[in-house]
Amino acid sequence: MQLKSILAAAGMLVAFAVLVPTPALAQATGAKPVCANCHEQANNSIMLTAHGAKNDAQGSMCQSCHGDAAAHMKDPQKAMPQGPLTAKDASATDKTGVCMTCHAGNRHLVFWESGRHAKNEVACSNCHNIHGKAGRVTVAPFTTSFRDNEAEICGTCHQQIRAAIMKPSHHPIIENKIKCSDCHNPHGALSKAMVKQETVNQQCLSCHAEKRGPYVFSHPAVEDNCLSCHNPHGSSHTFLLNEKVPNLCQDCHDWSRHPGTVYSGNEGWGGSASTRFIARSCLNCHNAIHGSNAPANRGKFLTR
Ligand code: HEC
Ligand code: HEC
Ligand code: HEC
Ligand code: HEC
Ligand code: HEC
Ligand code: HEC
Ligand code: HEC
Ligand code: HEC
Ligand code: HEC
Ligand code: HEC
Repeated sequence: MQLKSILAAAGMLVAFAVLVPTPALAQATGAKPVCANCHEQANNSIMLTAHGAKNDAQGSMCQSCHGDAAAHMKDPQKAMPQGPLTAKDASATDKTGVCMTCHAGNRHLVFWESGRHAKNEVACSNCHNIHGKAGRVTVAPFTTSFRDNEAEICGTCHQQIRAAIMKPSHHPIIENKIKCSDCHNPHGALSKAMVKQETVNQQCLSCHAEKRGPYVFSHPAVEDNCLSCHNPHGSSHTFLLNEKVPNLCQDCHDWSRHPGTVYSGNEGWGGSASTRFIARSCLNCHNAIHGSNAPANRGKFLTR
């Protein structure tokens, strides 16, 4: 949190410094690197970030990312810096290797190699905007200078997920209340779909603790996997449900034992068969769907 606010402040200072470069600021961030004579914008955009703070007159920090630039400085048109970050034919692995020379020890990156991104040629710089391009809203702090909404970056590649989070019922991601990286580790994880916790249910319960129970009468489907009924991103049905009730329930529950359609008989209830399916359908009666603590007969059937 502290880091984030420091960085947020740094972001503002960058904007300020572009308008009013003062000697005091220049001093505070060390000597102006020689590269800045020709690459003012590239320098300004990192000047007050973690990366720029370590720079010096030779542009050592620039060169630790871009590679040796000695030949480049002698004749910028003839020779480009040696590093892969801006090379057209460099692989994602080559580019990532540059970042890893310093970041390999970061605990968030432990499973990078086994993660889906590394295995699919996604490089660090596909998500991290090192030099920053000003313009869009500044929300989720994960770039090093200007900040984009995290979900927007993810959505450029994950189009289907982007569509899901726009559906009528969705986790409040576009509202910036939660973000993709609250549930996923984009740097890689051993779990399915790089979910942060070991299991889906642990992930859901980390925020929805009230669904954990323990209940006197639990619903095995809930204990087994929240995703049997919910979509984690978004759905056209209320409450992120995969399907409408009663279809949702009837994927697992026998149609014959308990009247299953509006046309079935309604044994023992005496009324018109269709009353079971109006309004909240099965949930009219089985409203403690995640588990019940009601006594004996009611609780057992998830009614309260
Ligand atoms: C004398 C001016 C000058 C200096 C000093 C200079 N560059 Fe450049 N640099 C250029 C020019 C010109 C280009 C080509 C720009 C273009 O094609 O848009 C360039 C391109 C680059 C590129 C882009 C390469 C690519 O393939 O697109 C990088 C990265 C770069 N310079 C890094 C550095 C670094 C790091 C330093 C300091 C160690 C530095 N430059 C110093 C003039 C300079
Ligand atoms: C933390 C690593 C890192 C550092 C430090 C860094 N750069 Fe870069 N730079 C990148 C990456 C990554 C790209 C490619 C950007 C992209 O893919 O959009 C890039 C792109 C560039 C480019 C070409 C694209 C452009 O924006 O014109 C230039 C020129 C450049 N950097 C110069 C510099 C200079 C000068 C410094 C030092 C003041 C510097 N960089 C420091 C990572 C870095
Ligand atoms: C020469 C060493 C070095 C290299 C190379 C380097 N970094 Fe960093 N980076 C640092 C240091 C030092 C920090 C600040 C301390 C920390 O967070 O580990 C930092 C911080 C960060 C941060 C978090 C802080 C912030 O500003 O938001 C990100 C993200 C990051 N680097 C990404 C990258 C990426 C992506 C690359 C490759 C394009 C890269 N770094 C290359 C040294 C380096
Ligand atoms: C798929 C997108 C994505 C890729 C690829 C990616 N990152 Fe990140 N990175 C993020 C997000 C999102 C965050 C912010 C997480 C948060 O806010 O909790 C982050 C945070 C970070 C941080 C700061 C975390 C800390 O220590 O507090 C560093 C450093 C970093 N990334 C480095 C890297 C490096 C190095 C690579 C390449 C090996 C990389 N990232 C690849 C999305 C990505
Ligand atoms: C509330 C937690 C949560 C949030 C927030 C979340 N996800 Fe997921 N995501 C999951 C879970 C759980 C799975 C399924 C894991 C499984 O199948 O076991 C999943 C699956 C995925 C998958 C692979 C399966 C598929 O449906 O294609 C991708 C890709 C994905 N998420 C990307 C994203 C992106 C991008 C965002 C942000 C826009 C995001 N997720 C936000 C929990 C979340
Ligand atoms: C440059 C494109 C790109 C960006 C940006 C990107 N991803 Fe991915 N992501 C991929 C590719 C490619 C895969 C592997 C193929 C697949 O599973 O869809 C993948 C896989 C995943 C998976 C695992 C899916 C599975 O089925 O196991 C998750 C989760 C995921 N990404 C989340 C994110 C999140 C969160 C972000 C933003 C922080 C993000 N991605 C940004 C390209 C990207
Ligand atoms: C990072 C915290 C977080 C995690 C993890 C999380 N949720 Fe949520 N969930 C929320 C927030 C915030 C809301 C919105 C609550 C509100 O608006 O009152 C929400 C709302 C919901 C809703 C109600 C949606 C609606 O339309 O009212 C359902 C259902 C739900 N989550 C299921 C899940 C499931 C299933 C998982 C695991 C895949 C999960 N959540 C993981 C934070 C989280
Ligand atoms: C058997 C299907 C099913 C499973 C499995 C399931 N849910 Fe639900 N969930 C529902 C239904 C149906 C609703 C809508 C309830 C209503 O309309 O009153 C709902 C609503 C919710 C809501 C929003 C309303 C509320 O009660 O707070 C949250 C949050 C939620 N579920 C979380 C979870 C979590 C977390 C899990 C896994 C531990 C889970 N659900 C597993 C069927 C299920
Ligand atoms: C993924 C499969 C699945 C889904 C979907 C599902 N259930 Fe269940 N449900 C089960 C299992 C398994 C049991 C335990 C059955 C047993 O003990 O005989 C159970 C038990 C019950 C019980 C208690 C029955 C008893 O004999 O103790 C009720 C009531 C119930 N479910 C209602 C619902 C309703 C209503 C829905 C839809 C909102 C629903 N279920 C969705 C799998 C599911
Ligand atoms: C009008 C209230 C009501 C509605 C609506 C209702 N149930 Fe029930 N259900 C009960 C009661 C009460 C029981 C206890 C056993 C009994 O008397 O039939 C029960 C028992 C069950 C059982 C456990 C016994 C068995 O027959 O397997 C399941 C499973 C079940 N209901 C699922 C559903 C599903 C699925 C729906 C929607 C299609 C649904 N119920 C709609 C009241 C209702």
